[in-house]
Amino acid sequence: MAQDVANGLAAVEKLLRSSVESEDAFVTEASKHLIEAGGKRFRTLMLLLAAQFGDPSAPGVVPGAVVIELTHLGSLYHDDVMDEAPVRRGSPSANARWDNTVAILTGDYLFAQASDLLADLGPELIRIQAQTFSRLVQGQIRETVGPRGDEDPVAHYISVLADKTGSLIAASGRFGALLSGAPGDVEERLSRACEAIGVAWQLGDDLLDVASTSTESGKTPGTDLREGIRTLPVLYALASAPSSRLAELLSGPVAESDLDEALTLLRAHPAMSQARAELDAWVDRARTDISSLPDIPAKSAFLALCDYVAQRSG
Ligand code: IPE
Ligand code: IPE
Ligand code: MG
Ligand code: MG
Repeated sequence: MAQDVANGLAAVEKLLRSSVESEDAFVTEASKHLIEAGGKRFRTLMLLLAAQFGDPSAPGVVPGAVVIELTHLGSLYHDDVMDEAPVRRGSPSANARWDNTVAILTGDYLFAQASDLLADLGPELIRIQAQTFSRLVQGQIRETVGPRGDEDPVAHYISVLADKTGSLIAASGRFGALLSGAPGDVEERLSRACEAIGVAWQLGDDLLDVASTSTESGKTPGTDLREGIRTLPVLYALASAPSSRLAELLSGPVAESDLDEALTLLRAHPAMSQARAELDAWVDRARTDISSLPDIPAKSAFLALCDYVAQRSG
């Protein structure tokens, strides 16, 4: 299994790069900027592991992973414009290196290249991808708009995570199962487990926005606070001490000059461990689905991945 996955990762890397080659040297450069900056290829890994439940050498597996990775990448180009993020994968974001126009259009180009590869994988996968992308975009929109007056902010937050991040990670599991011809019940279980892993992954990302240094995350800490995005630790902190100095700081977008104070107070607040407990609960949901999968090495690898997701934010 390990050799299959290593070969798969290398093949994905190769196709990922060639799929963004354009006759226009600048388009190629702007597209390769974040590919070459790094990235964990977490979605590719999930897809390749899922493909172990069928025939992992089936011809659609590698292009399917590239479709997912390009969709993820395009969403990052756009996300950094929306979040005004200066750093991504330890490098300047595309909007910082060039400008918003270049970042938006490069993201669009990446989506187009993903569609081109996807066309060869057939209508079932095209539809899954369309529905996935629709959820991702609606998650981003609902995050921007915030909860309705009658909506519970925590429930809103979790549903945003499921849509903006869980959807594409679930699709990674489903693509791997479908493209390798794994049985239908395995496909359903993998897709559900991967969606729960996706929610936990994004929860971890939100905790890291508070807890990590830029060197660890390759991003700028406090980006969510600066943008006024109420992530779970912020929601818990606001609910537990509505009239504290921290609540005052977190009541809207945090000014650059207040950021260090807000981060220091939030890092020390019990809201952080409360949010970690929610992350653990999502990982446990994934473990439950994974535990009933056929006993092959990829099952243990998925369980190890659950451990990694649970511990990566500390
Ligand atoms: C970042 O995703 C955006 C989220 C949905 C949290 P990753 O943490 O997978 O980012 P890369 O691909 O490794 O840079
Ligand atoms: C990214 O969410 C989700 C998508 C790109 C769909 P965030 O804005 O929370 O992720 P980072 O922290 O910038 O990676
Ligand atoms: Mg962001
Ligand atoms: Mg964002």
